[in-house]
This record gives sequence, structure tokens and C-alpha cells, in this order.
Amino acid sequence: MAEKETSKRGTWGSKVAFILAAAGSAIGLGSLWRFPIMVGRLGGAVYVFAYILAVFFIGFTEMLAELAIGRRTQKNPVGAFEAIRPHSGWKYLGYAGVITTMAILSYYAVVAGWAFGYLYKTIFGLFRNITWESSAAIFERFVANPWESLFCFFMVMAITTYIISRGIQSGIERFAKILMPLLFILMIFLAVRALTLPGASRGIAFYLKPDLSQIDVKVLFFAIGQAFYSLSLGMGIMITYGSYISRRENLVSSAGWVCFSTTLVAFLAGIIIYPTLFTTPGLSPEKFEPSLGLMFQTIPLVIDKLPGGFLFGLLFFILLQVAALTSTISLLEVPVAFFIDEHKWTRPKAAIFLGSLCFLLGIPSALSVGASATLTRFGFFNKMDLLFGNILLAIGGLGVLIFLVYFWGLKPALEEIRTGCPRFRLEKLWVFNVRFLAPLAILILLVFIKTITQ
Ligand code: TRP
Repeated sequence: MAEKETSKRGTWGSKVAFILAAAGSAIGLGSLWRFPIMVGRLGGAVYVFAYILAVFFIGFTEMLAELAIGRRTQKNPVGAFEAIRPHSGWKYLGYAGVITTMAILSYYAVVAGWAFGYLYKTIFGLFRNITWESSAAIFERFVANPWESLFCFFMVMAITTYIISRGIQSGIERFAKILMPLLFILMIFLAVRALTLPGASRGIAFYLKPDLSQIDVKVLFFAIGQAFYSLSLGMGIMITYGSYISRRENLVSSAGWVCFSTTLVAFLAGIIIYPTLFTTPGLSPEKFEPSLGLMFQTIPLVIDKLPGGFLFGLLFFILLQVAALTSTISLLEVPVAFFIDEHKWTRPKAAIFLGSLCFLLGIPSALSVGASATLTRFGFFNKMDLLFGNILLAIGGLGVLIFLVYFWGLKPALEEIRTGCPRFRLEKLWVFNVRFLAPLAILILLVFIKTITQ
């Protein structure tokens, strides 16, 4: 992660290096795979707009809060809370982050495994002359086969563990710096193709024309959850990233860029998926309930409609794999750094132990998408995602905001933010959000969590 040593602790070589690395953690399956599913489940355009508002008012606020805490303390989350408020209970919030990242990684890597499987399926030419029915069936058969999906999941965890154990994330990040802009360009290409498919307008309407009858607290809750999830917030990851930013850099614009690029990728993912999906005869937006395979089932359809589709498909799934890996790496690094710092474990020992633990923890998720009837009926995967990917992220994020306002103080926080940012134009808005809007919104939604999740 450290690019250049200035003091004892490394700092990013430049602002751009930080933005690319933080965007590497943020941009991943959360934007490409999870966001489009949420859109389908929560009524289309209304959710899209709720998500954008949630990123602007809550995600950005939270990111700036985490970065400021990290840069001030120069520590990992557990150490950061301890440094500002020694011997208080706050370090437990850091511990909670460690556990939640492990839990998220356990099912996130299952999906990264699906991306791995689609990479070799593309090479074997599975997607030629594909229809919606055959594409849907390919995914369903894949995840219903326990050996194949566990093998793919295992491969992703093994690669992630290897990279973390050798401490070579920065090598991967250098690689990702070139590949992520390429992913972006490819997505624009696919978006243009999707938008020009005959009949694309029904998909565009579903995605962009709000049906106000769909407004619901549920939409708001899952928009905030998705903002935290896709921006890697609420778990202290950005505290760690902030600890590597130099005091000369502008935290406000850095946070702004990470939020903007992540949201753009998520937005494009929907622009590709929905118009493609609704050009399929017989699918109606009103009754549409996407499965966890939505992205995997839809992308091959639009790729098939491009000249040289095979190469585009290969490129897409390679880039998807890289995007997923930069996120699995950032997830596994949290508990590994914790065990190295606090328990003096060696890096390989921590990586292998925690990587294996995550694999074991993820097996029920991997089997609950069709392979095991009992786990599928129980909805293990969805329950993990709801509990850790929405509720605990929101609680963690709320904790960080309360910590900043009441236990660290707005004054030192603003001093930290103003360092490197002489004119913080959104200062009043940020202060209002961090004190009132974001914590209250999260709190109210958590109080009603029972009704929301029914
Ligand atoms: N943001 C990543 C994605 O969208 C996933 C992720 C990485 C994450 N680190 C995180 C989610 C920390 C929550 C917390 O793919």
C-alpha cells in the first residue's frame, strides 16, 4: 500500500495514487453485481435516485469522517479509536469491523468465484448464440453444482490469501491502475450497445423513470446500506487508507473522486443490464424479481450482440476478476493487519489462518444458491448479506459518526480536513450531515429494521 516512505509510516506517492487505490477497494462486485440486483428488487429508478442521494449525503460524509480519523491518528481502526480515546470501549467498534469484514469476505468471495468460473466458461465458448433462457440456465446449473462453485470459491480465496501473505498488494494495485480505467472504457462500450438494442427503452424507463408508488423506507435503508457497501465504508477500511495520505493532500476532493467514480461504475452497470434484460420477450418490469445471478445472466447477452463478442467477453470477465480481487484483498487485509499489529503474528501465518477461516465460513453461502436444498430454503446467503452487508455496516458507520462528533470533536476533525484543503466549500453541509442528517437517518432506519426486513 505504501508507495514512498517519508516518515516511519508510508504515504501514498501522490493524490492520484491514493484515489486509484481507494477506488480499487471500492469499485468491485458491490457496484457491478450487487447494485443492479438491488435496483431490480426495490422498484427500479426510485432506488437508483435514492442510492445517488445516499452516496452524496451519507456516503461522502462518512468517507470524509473515516479519512480524517485515519490521517490524524496514522493508525488502523482499533489503534485509531484507542489513540483518540484511550482505555474506552471504542476499540470494540474496531473489533466489530474486523469480524464484519471477515463475514462479508466469506460470501463476497463466493461471488468472486462465480466471476472466476465465468472466465473459463467464456474461454470454452459457452456463450455463443445465447438466449435469456440458456443464459439463466447456465448460471443456475453452475451454482447448483457444489464441486464447481466450491472449486471457484476456493481459487479466489487461495489467490487472495497468497497475495496478502506475501504482502504484495501494491503490485496488484499498480496493475489495477491500468486495468480499472480499461474496465470503465469497456463498460461505456457495452452501455452504448445496450442502449441501442431494439426495445431498450423499456429497460431505460424502468431504470431511470421513477415510479413514485415504489417509494418506501425499505428503499432508503437499502440505498444507505449499498452506499456503505460499495464505498467500503463502515468497517474502518477508509481509516486505514486515510492513515497513508499525506497532510499536503486534499481529503475532500479525494473522497469526492472516490465516491464519484464508484457511483459512475454502478450507474453504468445498470445502464448495461436493464436495457439488455428488457429486450427479452416476456420479461416485464412490473413483475421482475432478479436472482443473485442477474449480472452473470445478462452480460453474456449484450456481449453476444457485439462484433468480436468473444474477445469482449473475455476482456470483461478478466477485468471483473481484477476488480473483485482488489476488493477481496482490501477485505482480508483488515483482519490480517489487526492480527499482525495487535497479536504480533507474522503476515503469512495471519493470512493463511484467516484466509482458511473465511473459506470455511463461506461454504454455507456457496451452497445456499441451489446446491443444498436446505441452505437454499433457509436463504443463508441473503441472510449473511442482510446482517453483515447492510445492518452491521450501518451500525459501524453510525458508530464512526458518533465517535467523531462526540468523542473526538468537530473542531479537531475540521482542522484535520482543512489541512491540505484551504477552502472546504461544503463545510457547513458536511457538519450538518455528520451531526444530524446521517446519524439520524441511520438510527431511524435501524429502529424500524424489523418492519423493513419483513
Ligand atoms: N466496496 C467493495 C465492492 O463494492 C467491497 C468491499 C471492500 C467492502 N471492502 C469493504 C464492503 C469494506 C464493505 C466494507 O465491491
